[in-house]
Amino acid sequence: MLKTMAASLVALGLVVAQGAADDSKVNEADREFIEKVGACCNTEVKLSEMATKSGSRSEVKDFAKNLLDDHAKLKKEFETVLKNKSITPPTTEAKNFKEVAERVSSAKGADFDALYLEHMIKNHEEAVKLFETYLKDGNNTDLKQWAKTSLPTLTQHLERAKKLAAQK
Ligand SMILES: [Fe+2]
Repeated sequence: MLKTMAASLVALGLVVAQGAADDSKVNEADREFIEKVGACCNTEVKLSEMATKSGSRSEVKDFAKNLLDDHAKLKKEFETVLKNKSITPPTTEAKNFKEVAERVSSAKGADFDALYLEHMIKNHEEAVKLFETYLKDGNNTDLKQWAKTSLPTLTQHLERAKKLAAQK
């Protein structure tokens, strides 16, 4: 009896160990990360589309254009990872997007630039934190790999937005 129990415990241990090592699965925390990435990137893209048209300084417009190119690439890679896991890519923006978009779109000239950059800094600070946390605590190898290769682009956006905001 004891022997059987011991054997069962060993078997159970193996199952648990195998479960922990199976990082191809997507858990709740992974899904939360995916949703947050979607909300964050979709917000940045929408605001940057506005900035390519309504931006005042040419440097700000250039930044918005570069950001759109970079995010198109990141999005494509993100969607490939999700497709392999049969997950539909998130299409929504951040919860407060409507309010933010209204504020930004009603600003003109230098005020527009300042407000746009303010949101880019805030958004990218959150994104960098989100990615760093996922790289530390996240479970899924494919998502982690994508996060790792994408993080330098986000850090670069953050630094560039800060620099542009300081130049006003
Ligand atoms: Fe970005």
